[in-house]
Amino acid sequence: MTKDSQAGSQEPHLLDKPLDRVSLRLDFNPVEMGFAPLSLQVLVAGRPAPVDLYLPIADVKRRRVEMKLACPQGKTFLATWRERLVRRGQRQVFVSLDQGPALMEYFDRYSDEIVDAPGITLKQRAVVVRELAAINLRLMFASDLTPKALEGSVARAQQTVERLARESQILTNLTAVLRSDYSVYTHSINVCMLAMAFGRYLDLPPGRIHSLGMGGLLHDVGMAQLPAAILDKPGPLNAEERALVRRHPVLGHRMLLPVGAVPYDVLMIVRHHHENADGSGYPDRLTADKTPYLARLLRVVDAYDAMTSRRPYQDPRPPFEAAAILIQAMSDQFGQDIVPAFIRFLGSPAFSG
Ligand SMILES: [Fe+2]
Ligand SMILES: [Fe+2]
Repeated sequence: MTKDSQAGSQEPHLLDKPLDRVSLRLDFNPVEMGFAPLSLQVLVAGRPAPVDLYLPIADVKRRRVEMKLACPQGKTFLATWRERLVRRGQRQVFVSLDQGPALMEYFDRYSDEIVDAPGITLKQRAVVVRELAAINLRLMFASDLTPKALEGSVARAQQTVERLARESQILTNLTAVLRSDYSVYTHSINVCMLAMAFGRYLDLPPGRIHSLGMGGLLHDVGMAQLPAAILDKPGPLNAEERALVRRHPVLGHRMLLPVGAVPYDVLMIVRHHHENADGSGYPDRLTADKTPYLARLLRVVDAYDAMTSRRPYQDPRPPFEAAAILIQAMSDQFGQDIVPAFIRFLGSPAFSG
């Protein structure tokens, strides 16, 4: 697999040539090659592409897949290209993580325009907000995590949470919006949206709902400091890897501590979202009465989303099965007070329309 960087100006444009369904559907992992998926819904048609846009194209004769430059940075991304790709079942293009800063600059300028595009449906808005948050997290994980890069990502996470708080209709019928294909990014956004919706369901004050949203987006950010091989491992982790992963709450807390924009409540969520009610959790083995309430709340949402997501080694559990497990583990892991309310929430319109 190679990274093809020149489309050639004489040739007909790749996106104007016939697109073969097979060539677009081959199963390989562009993420391992330094690419991140970008939903077509976050690209404004008729505007210059913010970065180089790539597509995986199969070379059947050579039996391999190559990332081909489909639209170079600065070239107008046409509405007809988007329609053709969507008709072919291709809902995303790929961008090189090296161009992350340019992409973020583009979103800083145009995200309002993208989310508020005329005729956009509520579900599409929710998807756009989700995708913008996903790309922000991906870049955050891929960056060198300098204080400045981290501050920028945290500021964008704030904007996501503020929008979700402002336009609370986005947080209804979440089953239609949540992604079940697990990655630390999609998981963090699911947890953010679920936790905010749950906080609203509980009638918590706006400041606490905001912290739940930020906590959701950032709770696993310490994973960014773990070897990528662990994050992307397609099977269950061994004991040594599990021990490393258990460091992520402390690593995340340490990373965010110097970032002024991160409130104390959020730092507590990041540090304590794996404490168990009976004191058997980590990192500080806090019992329920010593664990900050929002961290306990996020613990339940986090566990629920992990159970209902697809992993390479695990089919997603149906919601009722996940709920049954939450109930079983109520006294030792989650405490008695939050799980019943969460299960009522799952049956409410906030969750399933
Ligand atoms: Fe975690
Ligand atoms: Fe998590």
